[in-house]
Amino acid sequence: MGLVKKLQSLALLGVALQGLAFDFDFPQADIDSGRALQQLGETARDAALARLEASPSSTCTKESVRMRKEWRNIPGEERKAYVKAVECLMESPNVYPNVTGPKSMFDSFGVLHYYLTPYVHNSAYFLLFHRLYIWTYEEKLRTLCGYTGAFPYWEWGLDAGGVEKSPVFDGSETSMGSNGEYVENPGNPFFGRGTGGGCVKEGPFKNYTVNFGPNTSRTPLVPNPRCLKRDLNTQICAQWASLRNTTETIIESPDIALFQANLQGDYRWPEARKWGFAVHGGGHFSIGGDPGGDFYFSPLEPAFYLHHGQIDRMYFIWQNLDWENRQTMAGTITMMDMPPSRNGTLDDVLDIKPVGGSYTFRQLLDTVGGSPFCFVYE
Ligand code: CU
Ligand code: CU
Repeated sequence: MGLVKKLQSLALLGVALQGLAFDFDFPQADIDSGRALQQLGETARDAALARLEASPSSTCTKESVRMRKEWRNIPGEERKAYVKAVECLMESPNVYPNVTGPKSMFDSFGVLHYYLTPYVHNSAYFLLFHRLYIWTYEEKLRTLCGYTGAFPYWEWGLDAGGVEKSPVFDGSETSMGSNGEYVENPGNPFFGRGTGGGCVKEGPFKNYTVNFGPNTSRTPLVPNPRCLKRDLNTQICAQWASLRNTTETIIESPDIALFQANLQGDYRWPEARKWGFAVHGGGHFSIGGDPGGDFYFSPLEPAFYLHHGQIDRMYFIWQNLDWENRQTMAGTITMMDMPPSRNGTLDDVLDIKPVGGSYTFRQLLDTVGGSPFCFVYE
């Protein structure tokens, strides 16, 4: 990088770190290699565990707290058990009445996301909604399907050298299934195309049937059975979801408004424009395909939950680097404030019945608060 840019980013770093509960001054090489992110992650985890030790609750203690892990740090047998549990969710009954396409509890999560999409992206609710959403999914894996292992996340930046080789997507029996078959396709006008595009060709979820969607259909909730398609895209991963972007998004975001804007590449904030599609879009479009590339139905792609695990991990790290000052919400209750709407508040209620429960957003701030959460990221 050029000297001017380097000076700029150093200056930004200096500003961002002032007033933080923890002080960091990372060399660029450590930011790029992931060492800095690892250190931030450990500091955040230790801070959360110290808080838990100081004030445990009846529903969350140091003994009962769960540790979420990066996919490749989970033993092979446990990864296989995770895949089995997801397959079990795909066989458990759908809980939405009056829809013909969704066939399973796994599908019900897709319906919920479809209904709430206009309110939970580029809005005040983005981070806390997705936190509750993936936790509820984890709970279903446990209560309906007996999963007892760690809930996984996917650190995209580790695969910026080749998403196809990722332990998440290499097609082995301990992966989440392979890339899609290479097929000729024009790609996306914004994202170009990856190295697949067709049906997942080997490994887990090769035989999974996507039951409904896409969002562009006039009747997205009626049956439309088809294969799971992926179009893995290393270029997108390297450009927008690198270890550097992930780390700098955390350390260059002094408040929640800017953090969520930087994470989503929300162009309404001038500071957020340099992130392009940002880590959120970068992770989604590193997978791409159908339904992975569908804004409304991306949760019908089983790897969605690993991607959003990493988004929630970033939020967890960011919060716990300055917990006292980072229990706030910003933004309105509609996507990009369209149509214009009021500000969201922590006393608003998030009701995700019939898939899950009903909580105030305030209850969702603390992952070790015990009402309902009790987890940290390794
Ligand atoms: Cu979403
Ligand atoms: Cu997303």
